[in-house]
Amino acid sequence: MILDGQSPEAVARAAQALRDGALLGLPTETVYGLAADAGNDAAVARIFAAKGRPSNHPLIVHVAGLADVPAFASAVPPFAERLMRAFWPGPLTLILPRRPGVATAAAGGQASVGLRCPAHPVAQAVLRAADALGVRGVAAPSANQFGRVSPTTAAHVQGEFDDGLLILDGGPCLVGIESTIIDCTRGAPVLLRPGGIGQAEAEAVCGEPLRPKDSLGAPSPRASGTLEAHYAPRARLRLMDAVALKTALDLLGDTLPKGSPQIAVYARHPLAHPRQVLWQPMPDDATAAARELFATLRALDDRGVGLIWVEAPPPGAAWDGVRDRLQRAAAAA
Ligand code: TXA
Ligand code: MG
Repeated sequence: MILDGQSPEAVARAAQALRDGALLGLPTETVYGLAADAGNDAAVARIFAAKGRPSNHPLIVHVAGLADVPAFASAVPPFAERLMRAFWPGPLTLILPRRPGVATAAAGGQASVGLRCPAHPVAQAVLRAADALGVRGVAAPSANQFGRVSPTTAAHVQGEFDDGLLILDGGPCLVGIESTIIDCTRGAPVLLRPGGIGQAEAEAVCGEPLRPKDSLGAPSPRASGTLEAHYAPRARLRLMDAVALKTALDLLGDTLPKGSPQIAVYARHPLAHPRQVLWQPMPDDATAAARELFATLRALDDRGVGLIWVEAPPPGAAWDGVRDRLQRAAAAA
């Protein structure tokens, strides 16, 4: 059931649902989350069951503000504190040492916890209303079945779960890909997942480079957002540069059957193509491309194509988040 996230009654109802241990489809500025009270292990177990996600994959705990951090984290290194002050509320998740005994199920049993303070006004309203009912933090993975494309509208969420799920409609997500994740438990910042926050901006705030994943000895914990194959549409996705894409299109000639298109192309450069190819232009701007990426992959799936050929994003850090999601979608094909 979808309710208007702007309505104070709907927000109150959502907060009460969290308090009661129910699940909630929650809009954030990155993607929609499937939310539950992070302090209620039975409610958190329902998230894992609904998503079909292994219960040792840790979830992000969403908090209303910096004041809630000490309830979950046992220590905050100075660079992490600076990151929070610079980018919260916003699309940044920090992995911090977990206070023993709190959010154990949400953290997948790991000694750390992922914390994020979302900027979306509906998410903020729900977190504050839930807090007033005694819910300190809200565990929320992306509201999709395990391994699939994250949802960026309320309708996407509804299509992933049973009709009974309460979903707040907060409009289409402005960032469109999941938060940047920085591990702050290893003495220096480690970038686990590129996302809505630019690497250069984060490094400027930290005053040191973000280390690549797995660079500081300790292996990254099992984490689905960092699996090779993830974020996949139903269609098989292939990444090609513009030259390879042009060659592939030329080779198709007029071999394609008439009727509904079997191949979609999602590309920044206009290229000559057979009429039976479903052509989807990709924005030239990385921010705009991120915003529409998942919705576009879902829409192409809905058109029933079996193949999606995607022009590889250009080099440059601005495209890191989009490139990462596309590479994983291609790895799943
Ligand atoms: O933008 C987002 O982050 C969205 C919205 C809903 O906030 N959430 C999201 O959650 O993307 P999810 O579960 O799909 O991805 C969260 C990822 C995990 O897969 C894992 O990679 C990482 O966060 N994570 C969470 N807690 C962690 C921990 N304690 N240690 C390492 N990684 C962790
Ligand atoms: Mg996810």
